[in-house]
Formats: sequence, structure tokens, C-alpha cells
Amino acid sequence: MRVGVLASGHGSNLEALLASVHGREVRIVCVASDREDARALIVAAEAGIPTQSFPKVAYPDRVARDVALADWLTEHGVELVVTAGYMAILAPEFIARFPGAIVNVHPSLLPAFPGIRAIEQALAAGTPQTGVTVHLVDEGVDTGPVLLQEAVEIPAGADAESLRVLLQEIEHRLLPEAVRMLARATAEQG
Ligand code: GRF
Repeated sequence: MRVGVLASGHGSNLEALLASVHGREVRIVCVASDREDARALIVAAEAGIPTQSFPKVAYPDRVARDVALADWLTEHGVELVVTAGYMAILAPEFIARFPGAIVNVHPSLLPAFPGIRAIEQALAAGTPQTGVTVHLVDEGVDTGPVLLQEAVEIPAGADAESLRVLLQEIEHRLLPEAVRMLARATAEQG
């Protein structure tokens, strides 16, 4: 299965995918970002994977940007889109191009704490547990069908940074597991 990854930042989830499912169940064929300076693009380039940035300023509006992004992914034969720390909301015009084939990782137990600053939201709410969700992307913000979830107790005295580290360890297992699951399901469908 040919996978395109969208990432805005550090790219640790991309690294986890490269180290686990890439070259096995799936092939990561391209990596795109909304940010030209995303470390994820360097990670991809070092792995020999084609990259492209789609900065907001280069397009008249969000739809134009996301259509260009969808076209680029299609040119690379992408069958599954993985948003791994992609911080822009995808336009419905983009989502319609990859029906049921966009996967996102989110650092909370959805439907709790959707959107940005999910870790800070969980801490502010004083909830005893939080976790990681991998879900299919629909037109809402972090609202699509859940594929996998894993919960974790919030340690006493945790701050956003320490909790982020804890959650990322889970993300780095859960996202590859979901991608593996989808690749196998698609292979079985023939
Ligand atoms: C992840 O923790 C993800 O949940 C959040 O952004 C982070 C991206 O990290 N939305 P990375 O770029 O994969 O290192």
C-alpha cells in the first residue's frame, strides 16, 4: 500500500513509521508539509523519500492549497494518507479525494479534548487518564471513526512536556499498528 505522510513538525511519528511499517506492509512514497522548515521534511529526504511543502502564502486560499496537495499525492499514487502531527485542517475538497483513507493520530482519548493543545486541555481538566487515539479523518476536527485507542494514567505532578513524552511513546506504537491494520485489511479485500 502506497502511503503519503503529512507532517508539520518534528517528524517523530514519521520516524516511527519509517522504522516499523515502511518497506514492509506499506511504502511511504512521499511526505508533504504545510511548513517549509518542518524537520519531518529533512527526515523524509534523508530516507530518500520525495518531499514538498505547501505553505499557505503560496495559494489564494485553503481549498486551492489542499487541492494542489491532493493532486501531488495522487501523482505519487498515494492510496492512504497519514497525518502525523499535521497542524492544518484539511478542506472537505481534500477529504473527498481520499475517502476513508486518511488516518490521524491525536494525543487524547477522543472524543475528549479534540483540536489543538489536547495535552494542556487534559491537564487543565484534571482528568486522571488521557491517552492516544488513531482515527479516520472526516470533515470535523478530530471527529472521524476511531481505529485504535490507548489510555494512560496521568502521573502525579506531570506537566505538559512530561505528558507529551509519555503520549508520544504510545503514538509511535499505535500509529504504525493502525497503518499495518489498514494495509492488511486492504490486502485481504484484494
Ligand atoms: C504529535 O504528538 C501529534 O499527536 C501532535 O503533534 C505531534 C507531532 O509530533 N498533533 P511529530 O512531528 O510526529 O514528532
